[in-house]
Amino acid sequence: MTKIQDGGASLRVGVIGCGVMGKNHARVFSELTGVTLVGVADPDVEQVEFVTSRLGCGGFASLDALLDAGIDALTIAAPTQLHTPIALQAIARGVHVLVEKPIAQLVEEGTRIIDAAAKAGVTLMVGHVERFNPAVQSIKEALAGEDILSIQITRVGPFPPRMSDIGVVIDLAVHDIDLIRWFTGSEIAEIQPQTNSIHAAREDIALLQFRTASGVLAHINTNWLTPFKARTVHVATRNKYITGDLITRQVTECFDYKPDGSYSMRHLSVAYAEPLRAELVAFVEAVRSKSAPVVGGADGLASLDIAMRCLGERPASQPKRVAGLRG
Ligand SMILES: NC(=O)c1ccc[n+]([C@@H]2O[C@H](COP(=O)([O-])OP(=O)(O)OC[C@H]3O[C@@H](n4cnc5c(N)ncnc54)[C@H](O)[C@@H]3O)[C@@H](O)[C@H]2O)c1
Repeated sequence: MTKIQDGGASLRVGVIGCGVMGKNHARVFSELTGVTLVGVADPDVEQVEFVTSRLGCGGFASLDALLDAGIDALTIAAPTQLHTPIALQAIARGVHVLVEKPIAQLVEEGTRIIDAAAKAGVTLMVGHVERFNPAVQSIKEALAGEDILSIQITRVGPFPPRMSDIGVVIDLAVHDIDLIRWFTGSEIAEIQPQTNSIHAAREDIALLQFRTASGVLAHINTNWLTPFKARTVHVATRNKYITGDLITRQVTECFDYKPDGSYSMRHLSVAYAEPLRAELVAFVEAVRSKSAPVVGGADGLASLDIAMRCLGERPASQPKRVAGLRG
């Protein structure tokens, strides 16, 4: 069990949206010491019943009812197009918010959430859970002090069972845009996106190329046209070549390059941890300590902004900063 380090009263949390992600948020919250899962809300009665029967928490048909039950913090795991109205309503009641990625459907909406949270003085964290994947953390550690040259990330799989009006760039590539920004500590300055819609209304295949402000070249290959799930990261630095499988959580690095072409190779240690648990512990700690969350609203917004630009959509108020095929 994870200990919350403040010895204070239990943090009362709720989850809105009890689908694939919301169920897991509720499960993990219910297991954290120092946290009380007050309840979950979803208009789908069966989804609510599924969670309440297993976790013994309250079940509510609306956000209002969940807020009225008295919560300090809320996970928003409803469909992305509902993130903004739900977040604004919760923040207006002084509730700390963990919003699943992407922060919102539009950049303008994400900005409204960030502004509202800042004004209300509540914690706003965005659920970029890959940052808490131990394999990703191992890669990040291996990159310390390295001069990164290029990053290549593949995130592919079959078409998701539920149809959505969101394509692979907003749903999947936004994870990797965040990772590229995090690994390099630099913002993406140039984009060259190629997208296509083969089976879906929105893009279901995308090859995205970037250059960060620090000069790193990065590439994301993502699609819903692959019969198996794959999530791999390759990073070339001046001295190393790091390869990570984010599913099997194996990370290796090649190093000690010799003039004759030989080199050394080793497996890097990868901790055992459930990424979502680590994320929720970090959220609870940020709320309790009133400190900046690991992935704040600005991070979520920056990654959404790049994803939207890959789709040729940008806020009218923002100048064209990026040079790309669609720019
Ligand atoms: N971090 C990740 O790796 C990750 C993975 C998958 C999804 N997500 C994000 O999580 C969110 C939910 O995705 P999902 O895959 O769990 O979707 P889902 O379709 O499985 O679940 C969404 C749930 O929201 C409920 N809902 C619909 N309208 C609602 C309303 N007005 N109020 C409250 N609940 C409502 C639905 O009934 C459903 O139970 C999305 O924003 C998605 O981008 C994040």
